[in-house]
Amino acid sequence: ELPALARSHGIGLGVAVAVDPLVRDGGYQDVVTSHYTSVTAENTMKWEYVQPERDEFDWSGPDAVVDFARRHGLDVRGHTLLWHNQQPPWLSEGSWTGAELREVMREHTDALLGRYRGRITTWDVVNEPLVDDGPRLRDNLWHRVLGEDYIAEALRMAHEADPGARLYINEFGIEGAGPKADALHALVTDLLDRGVPLHGIGFQGHFVHGSVPEDLTEQMRRYSDLGLDVTVSELDVRIPEPAGQEQLEEQAREYRRVVQACLDVPRCVNVTVWGVSDQHSWIPEWFPGYTAALPFDGSYRPKPALAGMAQAL
Ligand code: XIL
Repeated sequence: ELPALARSHGIGLGVAVAVDPLVRDGGYQDVVTSHYTSVTAENTMKWEYVQPERDEFDWSGPDAVVDFARRHGLDVRGHTLLWHNQQPPWLSEGSWTGAELREVMREHTDALLGRYRGRITTWDVVNEPLVDDGPRLRDNLWHRVLGEDYIAEALRMAHEADPGARLYINEFGIEGAGPKADALHALVTDLLDRGVPLHGIGFQGHFVHGSVPEDLTEQMRRYSDLGLDVTVSELDVRIPEPAGQEQLEEQAREYRRVVQACLDVPRCVNVTVWGVSDQHSWIPEWFPGYTAALPFDGSYRPKPALAGMAQAL
């Protein structure tokens, strides 16, 4: 089966999970425990849920995910600390001095990484630091208040909060060659040159059917060559409606190619799909007109994409 196959190749195979179905839907639980070796919280570890009001932390969702994982022998990928989306209003709308924002950052980082020290050993510390389609740093709260060194500061803080954790930058639009891919590589090279604690790069992998980059392996290898781990952290392959059998078969080859790319890169450690089934996928809501992006359909039946992943292993 998939988990054993993945492990025999030295990689993890993960899935993004939502708290509600994870605690109450048996079919959902079966997919997670039978086919994957790790979970990522799709939302519940994001800032707006963890600290909805200043100094008021809600651990119910994160605890549920971590407890489920522990009961079933699954690893947990931590997602995410600094991001421009899904921030609570008190944070995003606050007018902060640098010192104040640093304090807020430290409290949040200490609380989250501290609580799960030893149980969550991989964290997306900085999510999507570059603008959507270009080579510049995104103008997010952190950048505006702290300047471009916020990334190094966040990584150092996370390292202090949990010296054993593997710390990642997670990004999209870097899976194929281009200015954004090069900009991230330059940023990462600079961080490493300066001795900043950075251990991995997440390639989100939100692909459109028919345009999975041919050079995904090469792009990941660039980071492996720097001594970093890499993962495909949020894989899905969205198909323009309607998705027929032909598209699903072709999608299977795309899933296979992505897993193969990970196997071909020495330090690729995990491939995580972004959702348990097409019914739970973020795609229809966020990309109207697209569908069927994941390896299981809405009735938890495996699609060709699942077999595609297995074929690579
Ligand atoms: C998405 C979730 O899947 C949605 O449920 C939520 O409404 C918005 O965020 N990049 C990321 C993820 O790093 O956290 C995002 O997840 C998808 C894009």
